[in-house]
This record gives sequence, structure tokens and C-alpha cells, in this order.
Amino acid sequence: MKIAVIGSGYVGLVTGTCLAETGNEVVCIDIDKSKVQKLSMGEVPIYEPHLDILFDRNIKAGRLKFTTSLKEGLEHGEVIFLALPTPEEEDGSADLSYVLGVAEDIGKLLNEYKVIVDKSTVPVGTAEKVRDTIAKYATCDFDVVSNPEFLREGFAVDDFLKPERIVVGSSSDRAIELMKKLYKPFVRSGNPIIVMDEKSAELTKYAANSFLATKITFMNEIANYCEKVGADIDKVRIGIGTDSRIGKRFLFPGIGYGGSCFPKDVKALHKSGKNSQYDFKILDAVIRVNDSQKIALLPKINTYFNNNLSNKTFAIWGLAFKPETDDIREAPALYLIDELLKEGAKIKAFDPEAMKNVAHKYGDKIDLVTTMYEAVQNADALIICTEWSIFRTPDFNKIKEGLKTPLIFDGRNLYDIVDIEKEEISYFSIGRKD
Ligand code: UGA
Repeated sequence: MKIAVIGSGYVGLVTGTCLAETGNEVVCIDIDKSKVQKLSMGEVPIYEPHLDILFDRNIKAGRLKFTTSLKEGLEHGEVIFLALPTPEEEDGSADLSYVLGVAEDIGKLLNEYKVIVDKSTVPVGTAEKVRDTIAKYATCDFDVVSNPEFLREGFAVDDFLKPERIVVGSSSDRAIELMKKLYKPFVRSGNPIIVMDEKSAELTKYAANSFLATKITFMNEIANYCEKVGADIDKVRIGIGTDSRIGKRFLFPGIGYGGSCFPKDVKALHKSGKNSQYDFKILDAVIRVNDSQKIALLPKINTYFNNNLSNKTFAIWGLAFKPETDDIREAPALYLIDELLKEGAKIKAFDPEAMKNVAHKYGDKIDLVTTMYEAVQNADALIICTEWSIFRTPDFNKIKEGLKTPLIFDGRNLYDIVDIEKEEISYFSIGRKD
């Protein structure tokens, strides 16, 4: 099939590349000239495992092309994906100006039947708005489909190629058939394409992310309570996770969820509720708990150092909001670093992929070092913020040799309490006996 993908960000690039991988001819459109130039030369601007291999292969095969011209993309594609940003407005709602702006441009150019597929995370009712906006200008028939994406950063290629489900929101049989044809190669394992109305599809995306954020937040609260009563969150997690109704995944406590999706989507659903006179009390609590969880290590650090962090140096391992990404949006590490800087501490930080992004944000306010062991040299403590695999089995001797005193604050519960006791390291984690 011939596909156009508007927006060559994270979702657009993965979508375009993976659709090309199954033999479709894909044209990706972006307004950013230099990005399009780099992409056309085979440069992938984001870190996403396996994407570069697929990208390279499909560019060489001529199935994946880039342009700044919406007209060219529209003429090419029978299915037009919108993979545009919906950033957070100041009041928490999703900013639809990119989506609706492009819808207007599409309307002005449309002269034959196309299916416009919304992949962006958008509030309930957006498909209708997109349809109305295009219809104002279009002179031909078209359909608008809501097709939310459930990709996880770091696993996006795998998630796209082997999705657990595809959600298609549409009331047009013609559009549904096209979508089924397009996604057939990805659901051969028997996973379903779930067809529903547009509004339910739009809400499915917000409900999924908000549910997962709530699940994590609930565990974070149980972990905080464990600390009060002397229980162990690891035991509780295993104890409840073996109940298949609860499930083992997304039960890992830590210093809160971050990233470009959960924080924004929970707030947007909360705000959408308000706009429809519905008060999502549970989401209000999730937002507040997560805000405080991001700095859950701070009181522990302050207690240890008698509230005097001025001129203390902290090694930070992990800056990305989670492993396998260079994304630092809403990363808990940054919230903690900001608090530590406010209290006069010095920071020596290391992350396997996110250093460039952090350098842009902090300049020389923090010291970015090139290895994890360099970070601990002469530091007063090590703080772990992201569970990169490389941090899971470190050389504890090197850590102890580097640190002024053997002391670790672990926001991701990487180490076994028993193992760490043997190393004679003072260790503070989340929801376990310190
Ligand atoms: C999330 C969803 O998982 C995807 O399905 C969705 O498509 C995506 O948002 C999106 O809306 O685009 P992502 O933000 O890449 O994906 O990251 P996750 O792997 O879901 O992790 C989100 C946050 O939760 C991270 O900060 C992670 O550290 C935290 N987390 C996750 C926990 O604190 N505990 C857990 O047990 C699991």
C-alpha cells in the first residue's frame, strides 16, 4: 500500500519505518527541513533500539522517503497517518493546534478519497474535529480513523511489529477494511485488531496509560507505607503479582513514572474530565502522589546528611526517564537534581544515552562524566535514578574505592539487600528495610 506519515517524530518515524518493513511504500512528511535532509541521508535522530537497522534497510530499498511537502505526501498516500505532537497546555489539556492545523492543510489539498488516521494521543472528540476541519475545505469523500499507538520507548520497533492489539476507531466500513489490510502482517500471531467507534478508541489510549500510571502509583504508595511499618515491597509485589487478575508487570516501585506520555496523558484525561463536568478524583491523586514520589529519595538523603547538603557531591547514575532511551522528558532524575542543586549540592552524573540531552538542559551547572565509575570519584554518595542494565551488576569495589563513604540511595531497587549488606555499603531504597 501507499502510505504517508505526517510528523517524523518518535511515533511517526517508528510507524513509517515499520510499515515500510512489510513492503508498503512510505513517504514521511515533516516541516523541519534539516530533519528531513538528515533523515533522507539515512540519519536517525533518536535513540531507539533496532530502528536504525530497519530504517537503513528500507531507505536503501526505496520504500521509505522523506519530504517537507505535504502536497507530495498526500498525493502519494492512500492512507495518511497523523503522528503529530499534542503537547501539554498550561492547564494540563492537550494542545490540538498541530493536529487541527494539519487537518486544515489536508482539507485544502484533498482531491480524492483518502483515509486520515490519527495516531497522536488526542482527547475524545478529536476525530470529529479533524473530520469537521477537513470537511470545511475538502471537495471529495474521505474518512477519519482513530488508531492510537501503544508503543513503549525502548521497545517501539518490537511493539509495532508484534503488537498485543491494534485499536481501530471508525464508523466507515471502507476505512476499516483498509486498516485491516494494512495491519494484517502485524497480527499474524493471532492478536486482535479491535474495531470500535472513534471516541472509544481515543479514550482507550488515555485509559490504558492512566491505568498503568495508577498501577505504578498505587505500588509506590504501598512501598512508602512498607517503609513506615517495616514490610518489604519486593515480597508484597511478588505476593500480589502472582494473582493473575493483578499481573506481574508494572508493579515495580521507584521514584515515579516519567516520560513524554504518562505524565501528560494522565493530566490531559483529568482535564478532559473537568471539561465534561467529571471529576477524576483518582487521577488527581495519581498526579499528586507521582509529583512527590519523584523526589522520594530527598528526605532520606537529607536525614542522612542532617539537612546539610551544601558542598556535598552526589554521583547520579541514570538520567533518562527509563532505560533504553535518551529521553529525559519528565525524568524523575532531573527533579531530584534540581532539588539537590537548590540545597547547594554538587552533581556528577552519568547516563549511557541521555548525556547530550542533559547537557543542553544544565550546561555547566552539573558535571557530566563519561563513565559510571568516574561519577563516584570523591562523591559523598551514589544515587541511582534509572535502571539501566549496566548498573545492575556493578563492581562494588570500584564504587567503594571511589566514594568518600560507601553509601547508595537507590530509586529503582536494583540490588538485593542481602548482597549489599555483604558489601558493607549503607543502602537506602524504596519500600524495603534499609
Ligand atoms: C507508555 C506506555 O507504556 C505505552 O504503551 C504508550 O504507547 C506510551 O506510553 C505512549 O503513550 O506513547 P513509555 O512512556 O515509553 O510508554 O514508557 P513505559 O515503559 O510505559 O514507562 C513509563 C514510566 O513508568 C517510566 O518512567 C518507568 O520508569 C515507570 N515504571 C514502569 C515504573 O515506575 N514502574 C513500573 O513497574 C513500570
